[in-house]
Amino acid sequence: MQRLNRTTFEISRELEFFDEKELTMQIGHEKESWPLCVLKELIDNGLDACETAGIPPEIEVTVENDFLSIRDNGSGLPTKVLKKSLDYFKRVSDKLFYVSPTRGQLGNALKTVWAVPFVLNGEHGQAEVWSQKLHHTIIVELDRISQKPAIDYRNEADPSVKKGTLIKIHWPNLACLIESKNDDLYNTMEELVMKYAAFNPHATFRIGKKVYEASDVNWKKWGPTDPTSPHWYTTETLRALIAGYISREQNGGPTRTVREFISEFRGLSRTDKQKELPEKFKDFYLHDLVKNKDIDLELVEGLLETMKGLSAPPKPTILGIIGKEHFKNWLIKHGGITEISFQYVKIIGFEDNLPHVLEVAFGIHENNERNIIVGLNWAPCLENPMEELSYLLGQMRIDRHDPISVIVHTARPRFEFVDRGKGRIEL
Ligand SMILES: Nc1ncnc2c1ncn2[C@@H]1O[C@H](COP(=O)(O)OP(=O)(O)OP(=O)(O)O)[C@@H](O)[C@H]1O
Ligand SMILES: [Mg+2]
Repeated sequence: MQRLNRTTFEISRELEFFDEKELTMQIGHEKESWPLCVLKELIDNGLDACETAGIPPEIEVTVENDFLSIRDNGSGLPTKVLKKSLDYFKRVSDKLFYVSPTRGQLGNALKTVWAVPFVLNGEHGQAEVWSQKLHHTIIVELDRISQKPAIDYRNEADPSVKKGTLIKIHWPNLACLIESKNDDLYNTMEELVMKYAAFNPHATFRIGKKVYEASDVNWKKWGPTDPTSPHWYTTETLRALIAGYISREQNGGPTRTVREFISEFRGLSRTDKQKELPEKFKDFYLHDLVKNKDIDLELVEGLLETMKGLSAPPKPTILGIIGKEHFKNWLIKHGGITEISFQYVKIIGFEDNLPHVLEVAFGIHENNERNIIVGLNWAPCLENPMEELSYLLGQMRIDRHDPISVIVHTARPRFEFVDRGKGRIEL
């Protein structure tokens, strides 16, 4: 009898980003919404970068027939990070293991952004980045034999790029997308930028001819360079951060003592605090926490307890409060509400040891329209991320058809996102 001796084939995990179905999963939205998703991720990155550099953000969005570009005025996307973002076997992020209220969290977004033009076109995708005096070009093509994307990356000097980062995604049919079935896509993109202005009083945004000026460039919120608090960690999340450091050490990164490690946390930077570490952690390296190839959870638990004991839990208000005035002006200018109908509620508290600030602002819409805008950690959501929201509005006696404009914003050191697209959270 004839018999098939099956051969075991291999396909690269890299392809998980380079196929429409897979990329839809990574992005968390269908293809039609990708322009919006790319825009959102790149604005998030731009804002995070400016805040890291301590500069009031200025974000400029350009949407043309065949490209989408986002410029920020941060300190620039380093070449090393950019190159690592092209390695589809690794996630790269400076926010990955820290429990802190940053917009980015997963180290996944840039990878999806580079993959989008290729997946849409099927054969060729191109993106360009100008940053830190360099012009980078990323070309993605398919190597059909090995069934892998072939990524051609190159850079050349461009001394004219002195500050910030400009990312240009080539999108050959963006104009058709905007003009045809998705004819309000451009408006939706403009609206998204306008919503960013609602949640970021310190930032100025431009899209085409529209400008949303910062209402207060000195407005303070928790920044990406502010130390994180031990009170925001669980034994598991602290262990993950320690594992991240040890893994870097094993790959040639610096060795770190427990004392150095704890000095990076809020309330623990002073040497007298570090001296209060129990004897067993003195002269201890992070890698000494490894027992039998794993990080000893009991030791981590003891360390976390000590760190919590030596520092006070920060008040929720350090997250930052967007405030009544900013929301009021935004809702009157862009939300179509009457001044007299404006209302604002702020709820500050703790849940599972994590602080939060919830702000709700709303008013009656003059033209009988209805808008509900939700933001998490200073970034608007593309869709309602909380099923509980309608219940919340019901509690406030807001009916399903009432003509209102509502803004709901929550800041929290960590959201449990249910998907890679950071679209849905579990409360
Ligand atoms: N405009 C920028 N300026 C400076 N650095 C940037 C910029 N954009 C990205 N980065 C760096 O590249 C890293 C990867 O970005 P990416 O968006 O993929 O991940 P992330 O923002 O950390 O998390 P998420 O996937 O949730 O967005 C960031 O952590 C940041 O260090
Ligand atoms: Mg990001």
